Amino acid sequence: MQSRLMFIVLYGIFFASTFDYNDAVVFKFTNFVCESYNQSLFVFNYCRLKAVSRNKVIFNMNGTLLHSANNVWIHSQIFKRANGYRPWLYEVKFDACQYFRRPNNPLVAIVYGLFKEYTNINHTCPYVGPQIIKDFYLRPELLRVPLPTGDYLLMIRWYFEKRLQFDTNVTFVFEEDLMKRN
Ligand SMILES: *[C@@H]1O[C@H](CO)[C@@H](O)[C@H](O)[C@H]1NC(C)=O
Ligand SMILES: *[C@@H]1O[C@H](CO)[C@@H](O)[C@H](O)[C@H]1NC(C)=O
Ligand SMILES: *[C@@H]1O[C@H](CO)[C@@H](O)[C@H](O)[C@H]1NC(C)=O
Ligand SMILES: *[C@@H]1O[C@H](CO)[C@@H](O)[C@H](O)[C@H]1NC(C)=O
Repeated sequence: MQSRLMFIVLYGIFFASTFDYNDAVVFKFTNFVCESYNQSLFVFNYCRLKAVSRNKVIFNMNGTLLHSANNVWIHSQIFKRANGYRPWLYEVKFDACQYFRRPNNPLVAIVYGLFKEYTNINHTCPYVGPQIIKDFYLRPELLRVPLPTGDYLLMIRWYFEKRLQFDTNVTFVFEEDLMKRN
């Protein structure tokens, strides 16, 4: 009796996890490139991915902003892979200082929502000193928008005083296993 009950419980847990949405989705980083074009303004101390399991890749970044910044613009664009990365749907240029004072862009809000709890960059201008992202990984339940299966590149170019100072380009895979969801 005991063992039968145990079997049913284990079977239930197995099934529940099989049909969990997150289990049917792969959403993970595949590459992360950080490049400063002005070492007297911004230095990347490290910028690295680490696979902690098959479907979980964490990102750690440590940068130093050497001068206080009050005028920061971001140019961001999404590319989807199909014979190389092609521009895909979204491109946005926005004033980052203004955004953090009054969030008003739904697309930016999605990206920001994915990483705000892993960083100290979650405040308004001015920025200065250590800029840290710690143990950041992609969680499909925070995505909130449908995304076709594919390989993507999210380009984020950072402009200070209207000049390009550094890039953070990230590639990721999003894969939905429809068989598992049914
Ligand atoms: C980031 O991606 C854009 C678009 O593909 C590219 O033009 C730029 O050179 C990339 N930056 C780095 C540092 O790879
Ligand atoms: C690099 O950053 C320094 C310090 O903010 C600034 O004075 C200089 O104009 C920047 N150089 C370029 C090429 O943007
Ligand atoms: C970031 O890097 C700087 C310079 O190497 C170091 O002093 C600092 O402790 C690092 N911070 C974190 C949170 O790793
Ligand atoms: C920024 O992140 C820190 C640490 O996670 C948190 O304590 C703080 O409330 C956050 N600030 C905002 C404006 O979200």
